[in-house]
Amino acid sequence: MTDESLILALRAELHRHNYNYYVLNAPTISDQEFDAKMRQLQDLEAQHPELFDANSPTQRVGSDLNNEFPTVVHKRPMLSLANTYNRQEVSEFFQRVQDGLHGAPFQICCELKFDGLSISLHYEYGRLVRAVTRGDGVQGDDVTANVRTIRSIPLQLPDGDWPEEFEIRGEVLLPWSSFDRLNRQREADGEPLFANPRNAASGTLKSKNSSTVAKRGLDAYLYYLLGDGIPGDGHYENLQAARRWGFQISEHMRLVDDLQGVFDYIDYWDTARRSLPVATDGIVLKVNSLAQQRSLGMTAKSPRWAIAYKFQAEQAETVLRQIVYQVGRTGAVTPVANMDPVLLAGTTVRRATLHNADVIQSLGLRIGDRVLVEKGGEIIPKIVGKAETQSVADGAENAGTAVAGTFISRCPVCGTPLVRYEGEAAHYCPNDTGCPPLILGRIEHFISRKAMNITSLGPETVDEYFRQGLIRDAADLYELTEEQLLRPAAGDQKGVRKILQSIEDSKAVPFERVLYAIGIRFVGEIAAKTLARNFGSMDAVAAASLDELMQINGIGLVIAQSVMQYFAEPKNRDFVGRLRQHGVQMQLSEERLSAQSDRLQGQAIVISGVFHHHSRDEYKALIEQHGGRNVGSISQKTSFVLAGENMGPAKLEKAEKLGVRIVGEDEFLKLIGE
Ligand code: IVH
Repeated sequence: MTDESLILALRAELHRHNYNYYVLNAPTISDQEFDAKMRQLQDLEAQHPELFDANSPTQRVGSDLNNEFPTVVHKRPMLSLANTYNRQEVSEFFQRVQDGLHGAPFQICCELKFDGLSISLHYEYGRLVRAVTRGDGVQGDDVTANVRTIRSIPLQLPDGDWPEEFEIRGEVLLPWSSFDRLNRQREADGEPLFANPRNAASGTLKSKNSSTVAKRGLDAYLYYLLGDGIPGDGHYENLQAARRWGFQISEHMRLVDDLQGVFDYIDYWDTARRSLPVATDGIVLKVNSLAQQRSLGMTAKSPRWAIAYKFQAEQAETVLRQIVYQVGRTGAVTPVANMDPVLLAGTTVRRATLHNADVIQSLGLRIGDRVLVEKGGEIIPKIVGKAETQSVADGAENAGTAVAGTFISRCPVCGTPLVRYEGEAAHYCPNDTGCPPLILGRIEHFISRKAMNITSLGPETVDEYFRQGLIRDAADLYELTEEQLLRPAAGDQKGVRKILQSIEDSKAVPFERVLYAIGIRFVGEIAAKTLARNFGSMDAVAAASLDELMQINGIGLVIAQSVMQYFAEPKNRDFVGRLRQHGVQMQLSEERLSAQSDRLQGQAIVISGVFHHHSRDEYKALIEQHGGRNVGSISQKTSFVLAGENMGPAKLEKAEKLGVRIVGEDEFLKLIGE
């Protein structure tokens, strides 16, 4: 046998063992034998780089290369499902389907609603070619490299009757066992815990490093087959075919003929789901026939042929022991309850959020109270009230101390007196340049995509640099050196160079985004642009009086005061001065100043669809540069719709109804003389 045919044979064999192990849970060889074959294949592939294949079983371990996620437009939009919360709404759905099909008989496919994140997989000639997240439903992130590490997803289908090209969608999730292992590890490493398997799965799938993904133990269930050549008219039957091709399809799908069948399924899984190895947050009901699905059609957001029934949040009772306070990156202080451990929705819960002082007040809690904790598939569990029966305070020293009215007055991290802004329920630490979580929050804002766009630097790296004392504020980023960052545990050379390069590149970021990046309270993207356009430079903004600021269209008292306050602080002026020294843009470029026109003066423009020449954000900026206004929804006052590809059908209909003009991308660019 030549090396090439040996490599091909080993790949096929390992794909098969992989399927037996991860999809069927029925391995036919020992782990040692599997490892030996894998090593043999790795060696052979190392000797023959010309035979590289991204879908080889050896690639499941991922790589240390930094993944960037190019955005991909979905071939068919990824809709979400309408939710129902009770039987009444389910039977209304059933009725709507019946009416929509004019009384024709139909079947409903009942499925579990897996609580992960949806993924779209594309296969061509049996090979996985692309995996894309849902994103905003129109476009998502290409996460193929990470998805290749998920062992239950076939990279190469064995021979079968699959169509040459198809798409299959499903849910990527982290089973409870992997989730618990991951969080135990993070606890030991002093890293923040993931609130639930969904967040963990989503954080993992977006990880920049596919070898991290490979280690976490993601899994996937597929539930929707699409494409021209798919086997038949039945959704259920198609998924059975997909199972034969090698996909992991839930064994808990059921076809039912009537509403009673639906209710039986719901009743059964309402409790049985607790013993499943993965998190579920409801049931999905789908009309089985694809022809009937087509005839029912969809609304703007979701199909009329399917619906989700969400399980009630689970509750448990336990004892409140202590209240501690956490400071978030915005400075908001959240009271957190420490409680006796209690089993809730599959995990042991010790802490719950109390949101803010008002919530504590209204619950009237005392230390030692028996409380009701709830977890609704959502984030962190919360205390929703006192339990009906209260045992007598049980000997704890501070039992009976009222929690209400005792909200702390100083920041638990830095000691600064807390403030409560008018109309807001939260208490805030105002020390935004001196309190660590707030400093980190400011730096994260500074580097974010719409600000300085230093995206090769993630929040975790920022944390790390801060902990090592390398940065105290965003201006320090410009003083970082390769030697500093290469210190042990700080990073590898390639990654470090990339980070330094994107910091360097940020010096070219236009002034209006710098003005946004420095984080003046209430100065969002739009206000920053308005200020930049009207004043032209940082110095002019800093020197403006309250009156001068407020004379500008779009700048009100709140923003004007905030700008004044910002520049009144010596530490802020100093910070801006340091950015200037490092070469960050402090004024509008000549080009931008001259690019401005009033060609779109006074026009209200809606943006819709997907564009080729510029991003959506760039079009927004262009509209503003030429004196127009970008507005969110179509009304009689809309001047025109700037429409790209795949403009939403609802918007199109509305524009046509109101007689609002539709302007294509090229026409628009001509309009502004670009
Ligand atoms: S079908 C058009 N089936 O729930 C049909 N979705 O709110 C699209 N999900 O985005 C989805 N389990 O992430 C479908 N068995 C299942 C599902 C499921 C979980 C998720 C999916 C989707 C969301 C809908």
